[in-house]
Amino acid sequence: MSKNLRALVTGANGFVGSHLVEGLLDRSYQVRCLVRKTSNLRWLSALEVEYVHGDIDDKYSLKGCFEDVDLVFHAAGLTKAKSREEYFRANAEGTRNLVEACLEEGGKIQRLVYISSQAAVGPGSDEQPLNETAPCRPVTDYGESKLEGERIILQHASQLPITVIRPPAVYGPRDTDMLGFFKVANKGFRISFGKEESFLSLVYVKDLIAGIILAAESLDSTGQTYFIADDRVYSWREAFKIIGKVLNKRTMPLRVPKSLVFLLAFVSENFSKLLGKTAAFNTQKAKEITQRYWGLDVSKAKAQLGFSSEYDLKRGTEETVRWYKEKGWL
Ligand SMILES: NC(=O)c1ccc[n+]([C@@H]2O[C@H](COP(=O)([O-])OP(=O)(O)OC[C@H]3O[C@@H](n4cnc5c(N)ncnc54)[C@H](OP(=O)(O)O)[C@@H]3O)[C@@H](O)[C@H]2O)c1
Repeated sequence: MSKNLRALVTGANGFVGSHLVEGLLDRSYQVRCLVRKTSNLRWLSALEVEYVHGDIDDKYSLKGCFEDVDLVFHAAGLTKAKSREEYFRANAEGTRNLVEACLEEGGKIQRLVYISSQAAVGPGSDEQPLNETAPCRPVTDYGESKLEGERIILQHASQLPITVIRPPAVYGPRDTDMLGFFKVANKGFRISFGKEESFLSLVYVKDLIAGIILAAESLDSTGQTYFIADDRVYSWREAFKIIGKVLNKRTMPLRVPKSLVFLLAFVSENFSKLLGKTAAFNTQKAKEITQRYWGLDVSKAKAQLGFSSEYDLKRGTEETVRWYKEKGWL
């Protein structure tokens, strides 16, 4: 695909979105950032980008945003919310507003890439990495809302070339969600949840961005869904060991019973509710981290997009820790 095209990124000021904006600029795209008037632009302020204001909850606010846009990357969404309704409003109805606005106003759009989530598929039931043909069985409201977003957007696949990306847990500079685990390792612990060993796929944010852009540029990706992740599936124990090693810390095992995970989540959720805030850790997150197997198979992205992850957990952690330390987050 020729460069100097104009790409619009929703959620451009967020963790994934801001890295995507940088990745697109590095590849000579012109970038239009769709942000809200209230959005914090700290990760974008040094970049040469254009801004448009829009809220995906309000279709009318999207009017005019897609003029002269060649590619759309829909990364706006809620990964934490106060209720199931809030997840669905942003991740499902927000996606409907977005795709309808693209269809009504984006006459030049050649590709719409939707950043969904592994949560839309849900965990595997045995130690077999899931591929894109696996039936979707989300276990959280977040996962259900992302799956509904996929269904809504793919209903328009005959009118617009659409591609869906499902990342697993993403880590890297600027991320605040995985930071908690880095802090635990920095205190010298490696947590496991429940009695059994559990497993997960991860992706370093730069690998994810490379995969997203490959998918956008591939002519074969129309109507397709891809997992973009590190080649390896990690056990939590191994992941903590790697993070601890990069931090130069010996980590001791700390087994947290699942019942305690849910109790802590319940307390955190209700305490935040009293303060009128969205909890960073809630019963939905507890459901996610207590699943046994979140492994993914990325063969399809490798074969069809030429994707290959350049960052294993050790390399990605080294960059992430360096950044966290520079910023004083660790
Ligand atoms: N991080 C992960 O591990 C992960 C894994 C799989 C999939 N994903 C998906 O990747 C996407 C980005 O996630 P992230 O981790 O980068 O989250 P994030 O840092 O919280 O960013 C979310 C972005 O969405 C924007 N947004 C939310 N509601 C909006 C609305 N109504 N209108 C316009 N913009 C809105 C936010 O804008 P404000 O700043 O104004 O709120 C922010 O820019 C999400 O769709 C998520 O489901 C993330």
